[in-house]
Amino acid sequence: PKVTLHYPNGEVRTLSVDNGQSVMKAATANMVPGIIGECGGELTCATCHVFVEPEWLDRLPGQEQEEVDMLDLTSEEPTECSRLSCQIVMSPDLDGLVVRLPKTQR
Ligand code: FES
Repeated sequence: PKVTLHYPNGEVRTLSVDNGQSVMKAATANMVPGIIGECGGELTCATCHVFVEPEWLDRLPGQEQEEVDMLDLTSEEPTECSRLSCQIVMSPDLDGLVVRLPKTQR
């Protein structure tokens, strides 16, 4: 499946992600800017924050309480569309997912 990243400067990147791989892992493996993933997906860093396009929100895997708690620690103020991209595990259903990157990630 593919995920498209929209940057605050208007740049757009599309990544191919393996099924079962998180958006954070794909972003860091491809060395794209904006998603740091400092903790490697352990829900302890909040440097993988993204804003999911609203039409995709309901189709994402559910949020664990740890993710909800960590969203308080993102460097850019979270919104109802905020998710930690290490928790967005790709599947065929998510092909075409669109997320926006925050302006800051630390
Ligand atoms: Fe650390 Fe997502 S990579 S919380």
